[in-house]
Amino acid sequence: MSTFVLTSTDHPTPADERAAIVAKPVFGANFTDHMALATWTPDKGWHDRQVVARRPFELHPGAATFHYGQEIFEGMKAYRQPDGGVALFRPEKNAARFAQSAKRLAMAPLDEADFVAAVTGLVDLDRDWVPSPEGEQSLYLRPFEIASETLIGVRAANEYTFCVIASPVGPYYPDPVTLWATPNFTRAARGGTGAAKCGGNYAASLLAAGEAAEHGCQQVIWLDGAEHRWVEECGTMNIMFVTASGDLITPELTGTILDGVTRDSILTLAPEHGLRPVQRHIAIDEVFEGILTGAITEVFACGTAAVVTPVVGFAAPGVNGADQRFTVGGGAPGSLSLAIRAHLLDVQYGRVPDAHGWLRRVG
Ligand SMILES: Cc1ncc(COP(=O)(O)O)c(C=O)c1O
Repeated sequence: MSTFVLTSTDHPTPADERAAIVAKPVFGANFTDHMALATWTPDKGWHDRQVVARRPFELHPGAATFHYGQEIFEGMKAYRQPDGGVALFRPEKNAARFAQSAKRLAMAPLDEADFVAAVTGLVDLDRDWVPSPEGEQSLYLRPFEIASETLIGVRAANEYTFCVIASPVGPYYPDPVTLWATPNFTRAARGGTGAAKCGGNYAASLLAAGEAAEHGCQQVIWLDGAEHRWVEECGTMNIMFVTASGDLITPELTGTILDGVTRDSILTLAPEHGLRPVQRHIAIDEVFEGILTGAITEVFACGTAAVVTPVVGFAAPGVNGADQRFTVGGGAPGSLSLAIRAHLLDVQYGRVPDAHGWLRRVG
């Protein structure tokens, strides 16, 4: 059974308070009235599926998630449609990735039907929290799973808690970014957890993000762990390069890169913008040289939170301690990047026909 039992809260946020939050959402600052929950144990499997009033967790301080990091999550959005309805964008892709992440972290995978029922049920109860599309606003959904067994001892836990919370949001990176090619850190290695969306990957990235800021950059461009040569992704987004010859290049999925829903969607839309989608290894030297020669005309990052974020520059360690800097497209966002961005948003907000069947209406 994949049905989540929906119970409306008896103490909702007052309507005027909610309206003020939804009118001007700040990324991740406020949460809706409800949460989805389910529990897994070896004898019962997933059970107690419900959407209820949001409340704090009560966990024993010995819960395994606090000690051994069995935690995975997803990020997706619900979009207000022109007729006032609400739609999710390709939730089954997030469901599949969530199950993959669970398997990599030796956690209990949730069925796709359960995952979609949970996010749909939550959005259904909290539909008044979905902002209007103006200013690229949406309802951000955060499904996650933790090892909730009290366990001091390194083994896969025997109890997991699944939860979904939601937060009305505006744009994540409203401005174009520059990327720092850190010589000191890598995000992932072959055989590691790079393809999983687990909290530990993000904790491990924070120090590098601080280093990027010290070099005047907003994000890190991650290179492979073995040779520190091949481009993987950037910050918390996938990365794409537009070439003068009409290719849209993105690093292929080697098990160290997150298989982004936005990445996949843009590769699908590329031909409609006269671009050939190419998934292949690309070395950082090829990127820098391509920028200098004009072979690479545009660079952008993509992800659910950021949609498409133009990359207008790179910095990397240079000789004599001075950074070398590369400016993409004269420092301004590229026209194809902006067109792809607008296209994706038009699909998500239901402003153009859903040619690829990506939207799932809620209710
Ligand atoms: C490390 C990383 N790469 C890529 C992405 C983009 O994935 P998606 O398009 O599914 O949001 C994300 C965001 O979730 C991410 O955290």
